[in-house]
Amino acid sequence: MPVLSPTSSSSSSFVFTCFFIILFVTINSSNPVAITTKAKRPPRQLSVNYYAKSCPQVEQLVGSITSQQFKEIPVSAPATIRLFFHDCFVEGCDASILIATQPGSKILAEKDAADNRDLRTEGFDTITRAKALVESKCPGIVSCADILAIAARDFIHLAGGPYYVVKKGRWDGKISMASRVPNNLPHANSTVDQLIKLFSSKGLTIQDLVVLSGAHTIGFAHCKNFVDRLYNYKGTKQADPAIDPRLLKALKMSCPQVGGNADIVAPFDVTTPFVFDHAYYTNLQSKLGLLASDEGLFLDPRTKPLVQSFGLDKAKFFLAFSAAMEKMGSIGVKRGRRHGEKRKACSIHM
Ligand code: HEM
Repeated sequence: MPVLSPTSSSSSSFVFTCFFIILFVTINSSNPVAITTKAKRPPRQLSVNYYAKSCPQVEQLVGSITSQQFKEIPVSAPATIRLFFHDCFVEGCDASILIATQPGSKILAEKDAADNRDLRTEGFDTITRAKALVESKCPGIVSCADILAIAARDFIHLAGGPYYVVKKGRWDGKISMASRVPNNLPHANSTVDQLIKLFSSKGLTIQDLVVLSGAHTIGFAHCKNFVDRLYNYKGTKQADPAIDPRLLKALKMSCPQVGGNADIVAPFDVTTPFVFDHAYYTNLQSKLGLLASDEGLFLDPRTKPLVQSFGLDKAKFFLAFSAAMEKMGSIGVKRGRRHGEKRKACSIHM
C-alpha cells in the first residue's frame, strides 16, 4: 500500500517526501420486584486473575504471537488497536467485530459495515493466530474478546507505549450487525461536540476522548478521510486553514482532489509515525493533525488545555492512556451464557 511519510523532522522544520512500501434497556418491566432484583445484581466485573487457574499462560501465549507479528508485520499494531476500539464502541468489548457475515445471509455482520471496511486484515489475522494457539493449550476457556484486549495492550507496549495490566473475564457476544455500526463510531469529520456526545454515551469523559485519540500517534489514514480538508474545507473551495502549509503541500501531492489512488495512506503522526509517544499532541499544536477530528481537539476550548498538557508531559499521557484503555475495555462487557458465548473460532458464533 503506498504511504506518504516524512524522511526527517526537527522541532522547527521537516522535509516531506513520498515513498512507496507495501503495507498493508431499557428495562421495560411493570414488575417492580424484577427491577429491584436487577439493581441488586453485582456489576459484571473483570479481574486481572480471571484465568489464573484455567489458563495461567494466556498472556504469554498471546504475547508470543503479538511480538512475532510486530517484528514481521509492524502495521499489525495500529490495526489491532483500532480493531479493539471499533469492537468496544459497537455492542461492547465482546469480539462482535470479528464475526464473519454468514454466506448467503442478508444481514451483514459488523465487520462488513462501511465504517469497518478499511480495518486492516493484519488485526484480524493477529487475533485468529493468537486464538488458535490459546485454544491448542486451553481449549474452550479464553474468549476472543479477552484475546483482543490483551493483544491491543501488547501492541501499544511493543510500539513504545505504556504497559498496563489487562482485566479479563469478557465473554464473546451473540450479536454482530452492520446496522448498529454507523451511530456508534466517530467519523473523520465529526465535530468535537459530536465526539464528546458519542464518548459520553459510552461512559467516557472529555479527557478520555482526548487521551484515547492519542492512539493516532501510530497508524495511517486513507486520503478519502482528509481530502476535503485539502481542497474544499467545509464547502469553501479552500484548504483548511488549520493545516501547516508544508504538510498541506505534501498531502496534496499524494492525494489529488479527484482520480487519486484509493489505497494511498498518510501517517497520523508525521514526526514519529511508528512510535507510540505523545508527539500526536505537539503535532496538533503545530497544525500537523491529519483528520479534522484530530485538529479539532486543539481548536476547541474544552479540549485544548488537555492537548497542551499531554503535549508537555509524556508520563502523564501514558498514565491517562492506560486508565482510559481500561475504561474503554469495560464497555458493554458480557458475562455468562445468557448474554455471551466462548467461541472456538472468533469469526463464527457457537
Ligand atoms: C476520536 C474519534 C476518532 C476518529 C474520528 C477516528 C477516525 C479514524 C480514521 C478515519 C482512521 C483512518 C482509517 C483509514 O483510513 O484506514 C483511524 C485510524 C486509526 N484509529 Fe482512529 N479514530 C478515533 C478514535 C480512535 C481511538 C479511540 C483509537 C484507539 C484507542 C483509535 C485508533 C486508531 C488507530 C491505531 C488507527 C490507525 C489504523 C491503521 O493504521 O491500521 N482511533 N481512525
